[in-house]
Amino acid sequence: MSDKKAQLTIGSDSYEFPVMQGSTGPDVIDIRKLYGQTGAFTFDPGYKSTASCESSLTYIDGDEGVLLHRGYPIGQLAEHSSFMEVSYLLLNGELPSKDELDTFEDTITRHTMLHEQLSQFYRGFRRDAHPMAVMCGVVGALSAFYHDSTDISDPMQRRIASHRLIAKMPTIAAMAYKYSIGQPFVYPDNSLSYTGNFLKMTFSVPAEPYEVLPAVEKAMDRIFILHADHEQNASTSTVRLAGSSGANPFACIAAGIACLWGPAHGGANEACLNMLREIGTPERIPHYIERAKDKNDPFRLMGFGHRVYKNYDPRATVMQKTVREVFEALNVNDPIFEVALRLEELALEDDYFKEKKLFPNVDFYSGAILSAIGFPTTMFTALFALARTVGWVAQWNEMISDPGQVIGRPRQLYTGPTQRDYVPIDQR
Ligand code: SDX
Repeated sequence: MSDKKAQLTIGSDSYEFPVMQGSTGPDVIDIRKLYGQTGAFTFDPGYKSTASCESSLTYIDGDEGVLLHRGYPIGQLAEHSSFMEVSYLLLNGELPSKDELDTFEDTITRHTMLHEQLSQFYRGFRRDAHPMAVMCGVVGALSAFYHDSTDISDPMQRRIASHRLIAKMPTIAAMAYKYSIGQPFVYPDNSLSYTGNFLKMTFSVPAEPYEVLPAVEKAMDRIFILHADHEQNASTSTVRLAGSSGANPFACIAAGIACLWGPAHGGANEACLNMLREIGTPERIPHYIERAKDKNDPFRLMGFGHRVYKNYDPRATVMQKTVREVFEALNVNDPIFEVALRLEELALEDDYFKEKKLFPNVDFYSGAILSAIGFPTTMFTALFALARTVGWVAQWNEMISDPGQVIGRPRQLYTGPTQRDYVPIDQR
């Protein structure tokens, strides 16, 4: 709390509210007693001016294009860390020692297998089911298999559930892909890294040997790091709201997956690559930029713009560099990257995008990398969900262990009919 106070005058009445300061970033006005004192609600659809919670996990400065995880800049983590180490950092608050990291990785590795009956669950889906539909269903179904880690009041059960979710998401995602292409499921290989194991479960077949390419493993691991957590975004807020009712962690993460699926959020990586392929050549870019600017055209540049970043998304910077590395390593000659680079260049020169501070976001380049590695566009958001699971789980743990935690229940501005009496049908 700070000494600052916020004054509010409604008609002839004046009110005062405390102002809270974080370790950095904007102050917040503590309006928890506003309704009790004034009889009025605040009105903030989309929560553009609302802080929903206290958190020490991730800090974003949208104007400066800064993203910190427990204080460490995303660029440094992407360059020097690993997804397992970033997962440990998000869950525990500090970078691990070598022994702590080895123990954590060993724990996660030993939770990568799914209950064998869950593989039957996939067979209920059509082969052409969208992988995100499968992810929603299978992750929600985990609560039917792991009763020993659904008591959220028990810190040990919360920890086991957290480890199970982080460990099993690669297996679940890889199985969704295998099912969609009619290939057999590949069991986890505990001799591989978290990310190497995921690549093998996804791209290997029992009939042939498979070797994880280091360049691809590094790029994939970096993409997981870039998607790990991102403050109170829509899907994380969904997980927190679901968790605030006391729902079990598997159900909460399934809710987060459902929210992430939307094209305005995690579905943008799939939508962006589809857009780049539709544009096809640099010559066609101006037409699409004009469409994006046209108020009467619902078309938007997918992978562009962000609720918080009014500067370059620092994750997009790392992603663009990674595209070059993967294309060189795999000797990829896909014009999609040139289209993306030219689109970014022309958009950032355009007054419409400059005035609205619209820049490439995390989804703008990720699709080019994932496509080069061999993933179909339908798997892109499933990969986002795989990586974001550690952020959702860390945010959920932070909320559940907060002694002041209460169920989330917003109010409304009611604009419907005031009370009226029922009219019998023969009098209408
Ligand atoms: C993610 O929250 C997170 O942190 C999310 C995320 C995470 O890691 O969890 O970062 C991941 O979801 C990234 C965003 C992925 N989505 C897209 O790339 C879809 C395209 N972008 C837009 O739909 C939009 O930019 C949003 C949804 C991302 C943000 O929308 P806002 O904050 O509600 O802003 P807005 O829609 O009010 O846009 C402000 C103005 C509008 O024009 P006006 O009404 O003021 O005239 O900018 C325009 C919009 O029309 N605009 C765009 C645009 N994005 C915004 N115009 C053209 N193309 C775009 N992409």
